Amino acid sequence: MSNRSRTQIAIIGAGPAGLLLGQLLHVYGIETVILERKSRDYVLGRIRAGVLEQGTVGLLDEAGVAARLHSQGIVHHGIELVFGGARHRIDMKEATGKAVTIYGQTEVTRDLMDARDKAGLTTVYEAEGVSLHDLDGDRPRVRYTEAGVTHEVACDFIAGCDGSHGISRQSVSPAAITTFARTYPFGWLGILSETPPVAPELIYANHARGFALCSMRSYTRSRYYIQCAADDRVDDWTDDRFWDELKRRIDQEAIDHLVTGPSIEKSIAPLRSFVAEPMRFGRLFLAGDAAHIVPPTGAKGLNLAASDVHYLARALREYYAEKSSAGIDDYSRRALTRVWKAERFSWWMTSILHRFPDTDAFSARIQIAELNYLVGSRAAATALSENYVGPPF
Ligand code: APR
Ligand code: PHB
Repeated sequence: MSNRSRTQIAIIGAGPAGLLLGQLLHVYGIETVILERKSRDYVLGRIRAGVLEQGTVGLLDEAGVAARLHSQGIVHHGIELVFGGARHRIDMKEATGKAVTIYGQTEVTRDLMDARDKAGLTTVYEAEGVSLHDLDGDRPRVRYTEAGVTHEVACDFIAGCDGSHGISRQSVSPAAITTFARTYPFGWLGILSETPPVAPELIYANHARGFALCSMRSYTRSRYYIQCAADDRVDDWTDDRFWDELKRRIDQEAIDHLVTGPSIEKSIAPLRSFVAEPMRFGRLFLAGDAAHIVPPTGAKGLNLAASDVHYLARALREYYAEKSSAGIDDYSRRALTRVWKAERFSWWMTSILHRFPDTDAFSARIQIAELNYLVGSRAAATALSENYVGPPF
């Protein structure tokens, strides 16, 4: 083996989970190496959601990467629900005392990458053929190839932060994993445009033609989604067709205020719920999308990655500083308890807002009754708000 090195934690994947874990561990004085299959530009080119829970913001503060977030992020105290052609506001701040911050995942990733560079920490981009070894011993190793040269990193632990298609979960015997999954029979077609947002807060719309969402990245950049068929292709949707369809699903005030423009990004995302249990296998921990997926309706994906990272970083700090394995032994249980809360909420938000193939007249009325209950009952609005702003870590 031509190149051998050693670190404390080998992190697989430079998405938000891997980068945030690396930065927190750096703050705690723990050494990491991050191995990422793609290039830095490729990772930064992915457009993902942009709603941060207060807990996530707190963690980014702790990691020392929240300056730009505080100057450019937009704090939202509520969301709006459109159904039956009318718009209703849910005041999350009043219900919970908490808010969310609108700041794109791409920007979070960029801030984390910049901080890592500044601290002189090692990230290997375009690491090919990453493989995990000896997860059951106390000296696990990771191998990869970079520019044709094979490297081996010995470490104390491996953090599998390599998303839903990563190698980490696949490195574990299937017999050791139990998975739970649901695929939804539709997708989300999203576009990003250099246009001002249609309203100050996010609008989630239930409509007979399907769900729609009006979101934003800044005061000049908007993100819109419409429910589409699972097998639709982006090429089927011109910008004009998208805007026309969006207008059919939102309320009149929104139609009147909507500023349309050319899309600068357009993509279709499938909707899926998925959980792999447990989240620890010997010396390997899974965090973020590597362990679970939520449909985007509750804006929980990134926030769930952050809460995993919170539990894992603290557990590892406890391991090194206090020579205690209590935190790492309890990591999977603690993380999964919160994961399932977010899974339930995301599934529920998806179920009340979308048109399913089997949504008959009865279930459409039930959806409207549920939405009416939400906007008419303080208790119901509080239940939604508590979950949207995020349960405590
Ligand atoms: N080797 C190295 N890196 C890999 C490998 C591999 N075999 N497989 C995947 N990766 C990298 C991917 O290229 C990606 O950059 O792991 C990273 C995983 O990042 P994400 O998919 O962003 O997952 P995560 O960091 O858990 O972030 C969760 O992302 O998908 C959203 O909704 C999700 O917002 C949530 C957030
Ligand atoms: C987004 O802005 O991309 C977004 C916002 C809220 C969601 C999902 C996506 O629930």
